[in-house]
Amino acid sequence: MKWETAKRPSLGSSELDPSTQSNYSNFRVVNTGLDLKIEFSEKKVLGFVNFELENLSSSDRIVLDTSYLEIFEVSVNKTPVSYELVSRVEPLGSALVVPLKSNDSKKLHLQIKYSTTAKCTALQFIEASTGPYLFSQCQAIHARSLYPCFDTPAIKSTFDMKVSSPYPTLMSGRPQEKYADDKDVYYFSQPIPIPSYLVALASGDIEKLPIGPRSDVYSEKFNLKDCQWEFEKDMETFIQIAEDLIFDYEWLKFDALVLPPSFPYGGMENPNITFATPTLISKDRLQVKVMAHELAHSWLGNLVTNCSWEHFWLNEGWTVYLERRILGALSTKEALSKGMTQENATKYGEQVRNFAAIIGWSGLVDTVKTLKPEFTSLVWNLKDKIDPDDAFSRIPYEKGFNFLFFLEKTLGLEDFNDFIKYYFAKFKYQSLDSYQFIDTLHDFFSKRNKDEILDSINWEAWLFSEGLPPVTPQFDTTLADECYQLAESWFKFAKSGAKLPELENSVISHYEPNQHALFLDTLNNQLSTLENISTDFISNFIETYPFYAEVTNGEIKASWNALVIHHGKLTPENPIVTNFADWLGTVGRMKFVRPGYILLKKVNKDYAIKVFKVHQAKYHPICRSMVQKDLDLV
Ligand code: BES
Ligand code: ZN
Repeated sequence: MKWETAKRPSLGSSELDPSTQSNYSNFRVVNTGLDLKIEFSEKKVLGFVNFELENLSSSDRIVLDTSYLEIFEVSVNKTPVSYELVSRVEPLGSALVVPLKSNDSKKLHLQIKYSTTAKCTALQFIEASTGPYLFSQCQAIHARSLYPCFDTPAIKSTFDMKVSSPYPTLMSGRPQEKYADDKDVYYFSQPIPIPSYLVALASGDIEKLPIGPRSDVYSEKFNLKDCQWEFEKDMETFIQIAEDLIFDYEWLKFDALVLPPSFPYGGMENPNITFATPTLISKDRLQVKVMAHELAHSWLGNLVTNCSWEHFWLNEGWTVYLERRILGALSTKEALSKGMTQENATKYGEQVRNFAAIIGWSGLVDTVKTLKPEFTSLVWNLKDKIDPDDAFSRIPYEKGFNFLFFLEKTLGLEDFNDFIKYYFAKFKYQSLDSYQFIDTLHDFFSKRNKDEILDSINWEAWLFSEGLPPVTPQFDTTLADECYQLAESWFKFAKSGAKLPELENSVISHYEPNQHALFLDTLNNQLSTLENISTDFISNFIETYPFYAEVTNGEIKASWNALVIHHGKLTPENPIVTNFADWLGTVGRMKFVRPGYILLKKVNKDYAIKVFKVHQAKYHPICRSMVQKDLDLV
């Protein structure tokens, strides 16, 4: 028996995407051609988009999404037509309406000549240390500010891309041979159908070096060797582990581009060319997990896609699940190569996977406490013109991971492994919603006589309840226990004012980065439950671990500052606060920037705004606008 809910759309179809104004469900996009030119001097991208469409239900118009675009000409089947650019609706943009004639063929060629404008939210033109540089970020709903499109993850298209630029240029496709007389023109083909949010463009003084037999890393030259070193040990192993778990990598090459600091995310899974923040280049290979994550998107997200941003957990929760499977398997492999027995190595890999899950859980607990409750459900409701960027948080990642981890434990690892292969093969090149996912679980597991188990699961609570998941996971805490114990001892000190003897010489120099983060986050959470914290506590804490004040790893830096600045009630005059404020001007990754300003806002709102005004010009437009919202500036 399948699970029924009042929220499910009409049978057989997936949910309509509320974050688009386009009439995408009336069309099939057979192919999209982009023919673009980058004008660095005017900070614009201009040219043509060519759609090969099939009109599935004799629609009398084509409605596309646009945002801050200038439209010059629209033609249908090579004949210029009149069109309407409807006035802007926030946050969705301006619909472009192209009327069709009743005698227009079912197969349509639609061409639009257009240009981006200064308000484009997908592009950032910057002056990098090596000269002019441009990069895009289209997820979630910014592709419409780069080119007119059906801007929804619900439909996909193959792409031919051509772009002219004075600098080396990359797009999310396979680079094609350059034609000899076409200097400064770059061609790409994407034969695997992709949604609009995966279109990506970057151009600047970039070069490449290999990081594996089917992977190169690109970056500005001064950074290139460091980028190569950071990833070359693990890249191919990651791909092979993922191939064992799911099926062969279909995109031929997995390359990465390390961007200048203002790139607003840790990574973005643009097909064939993952974009990454330079904060990953920490010269210790300790942040390769981001690469495992973006690689996992090659299957999940890029082959099998959420049909609207309401079901974003299907992309990110699954990807975190796979990322942790990959990292666990990598640890097992490394333990085996050091001579551990198969049994112990498998156990160790599992401990590593569970440790990552514990860190995630701690982030989930934090997020649930601070986020608007309506955004803490697994499936979102974005129907009231809610901007998906506003709903974005760790929830789809960690609650989604926990849902899948729970299903794996409940249904058994072996069967779940078979399900992974089945699910990905069934939905590749397609987009789906959460109901279709659960139907597929039922189809698969009823053949294995596991209906009863499925029927006992509270789907409604998992998908729609706010707050923490309905079932609290049991993780293997082997690697976490020392961090918990230490946090507990410090917590006792904070509560009672008496420092326990074991804290006098507690050594944590052997911790790996995630253990520091877990220790700090756990203590931070515990301190939030106290009304009064002993005054000695913070100064003692700072003195006991002086290296925390100097740390360069962004994750640890963020956690330490959150603890010390907030619970120590530090003021804007304190050098710890001013150092932290300076650091916020050197990173553009939203994961650090947004909580950073929220922290400063707790110190003093006017001070937070003052710091933001100093740094804001350096931030990506998406990042800038999110912080403006966080600081109530808009
Ligand atoms: N696809 C996301 C980034 C994203 C999400 C961009 C939503 C725009 C809207 C990417 O795969 C991601 O999750 N990046 C994480 C990496 C981490 C979970 C390892 C990040 O940026 O921190
Ligand atoms: Zn992701």
